[in-house]
Amino acid sequence: MPRKLYVKTYGCQMNVYDSERMAEVLATSGYETVDTPEAADMILLNTCHIREKAAEKVYSELGRLKGLKAAKPDLKIGVAGCVAQAEGEEIMRRQPAVDLVVGPQSYHRLPAMEARLRAGEAALDTDFPEEDKFSRLGARAAAHRGPAAFLTVQEGCDKFCSFCVVPYTRGAETSRPVTQVIAEASALAARGVREITLLGQNVNAYHGADADADGGEASLAGLVHRLAGIAGLERIRYTTSHPNDMTDDLIEAHGSCAKLMPYLHLPVQSGSNSILKAMNRRHTAESYLRLIERIRAARPDILLSGDFIVGFPGETEADFADTLALVEAVGYGQAYSFKYSTRPGTPAAERAQVDEDVKAERLARLQALLSRQQRQAQDAMVGKEVSVLFERAGRLPGQLVGKSEHLHAVHAQAPAALLGEIARVRIGESAPNSLGGVLEG
Ligand code: SAH
Ligand code: SF4
Ligand code: F3S
Repeated sequence: MPRKLYVKTYGCQMNVYDSERMAEVLATSGYETVDTPEAADMILLNTCHIREKAAEKVYSELGRLKGLKAAKPDLKIGVAGCVAQAEGEEIMRRQPAVDLVVGPQSYHRLPAMEARLRAGEAALDTDFPEEDKFSRLGARAAAHRGPAAFLTVQEGCDKFCSFCVVPYTRGAETSRPVTQVIAEASALAARGVREITLLGQNVNAYHGADADADGGEASLAGLVHRLAGIAGLERIRYTTSHPNDMTDDLIEAHGSCAKLMPYLHLPVQSGSNSILKAMNRRHTAESYLRLIERIRAARPDILLSGDFIVGFPGETEADFADTLALVEAVGYGQAYSFKYSTRPGTPAAERAQVDEDVKAERLARLQALLSRQQRQAQDAMVGKEVSVLFERAGRLPGQLVGKSEHLHAVHAQAPAALLGEIARVRIGESAPNSLGGVLEG
């Protein structure tokens, strides 16, 4: 009988991708995935370390799982992802129910680690190994479900923003070779995937080996153009980007590549130049605004998304007002915003901190503005005809739900045969987090 694996994913899309790959590699050790922790012989928590709350969640979940293990002593509990990388052995000390700790760069070694567990040993691996994880993982197997998929093409970060743990948890920037990415994308397309989101902590810093390209390397734009040639693959997205890596060829691709979707997540974090400097972002509010202008010139209907941090050490009311002004100037269709969270080991953690209630109050003001803008962008779609990739059944009978080119959730009455297909929908209504429409004949 196959052993049962339950994976719970926290954090960013790269963790979603990694969880799929971990399930695939553990399938080679005889595991199949199940939907509940109670049904599992092994539980893997794929964790996130970006903010304090994210990391603490893991320990409260481990506390609950400890009870499960008391009732089922053979149950194995593993911690993967960025908390595993950041805290390593400390996790096992803090929660002795944990049997396995594996970092994001070593999970191709899971089968060997699992064998150690069955021999009664604990297993810990938070190396940044020399060997290429992706080539060790082998071909993308059948674990993926649905017409939209993530595909990690770049990992790690060399930017060292002063608030951020990612350069420490994910290591230095690396890019996968073009042939490897094309092979994985082609395999996904052959299995019915219509939309691929290319992932990287700084995905637009991608520079993958490519024998066919000048200088032996392809940029992200080069990769996008190559992927656009894959039959059956209709939509390409990428995330997350850094403003300083928005190169001319990538901006141009937004105008010239029909499969590249009109949506861009381009975090700016703050609108204040002195805060941007203290964050070590190496761009200004003005250079960001100029960049947005150029991107909009290439693709006028592009929907912009961003990330913001409020209450960074030293942020004054005037700095915060600059952030609000930048948001007003850009007009985001979507955004994420966070209270600054002190991360041990990062430079900003050493500085004088802003009061929690000030952070909370600023976050509320920023979020009110951002949700107004999000609603405006959505409302502007009413009356328009959009393309929707239907991904799943909706709440109402006969309804399907999917994503528009601008990444809006859209529901419509549609035959089940359209699941996994792209169809035209006339938008009739805008609800707080979705659009409703009618299938065009
Ligand atoms: N590589 C991406 C972001 C990765 S982290 C980029 O550079 O844009 C995702 C988001 O989490 C960041 O954009 C930032 O807004 C937020 N974040 C990172 N560290 C944080 C911290 N210490 N406190 C609060 N938010 C943080
Ligand atoms: Fe973190 Fe900055 Fe790197 Fe993004 S660019 S992952 S925010 S250090
Ligand atoms: Fe979190 Fe690691 Fe992603 S810290 S945001 S899971 S890269």
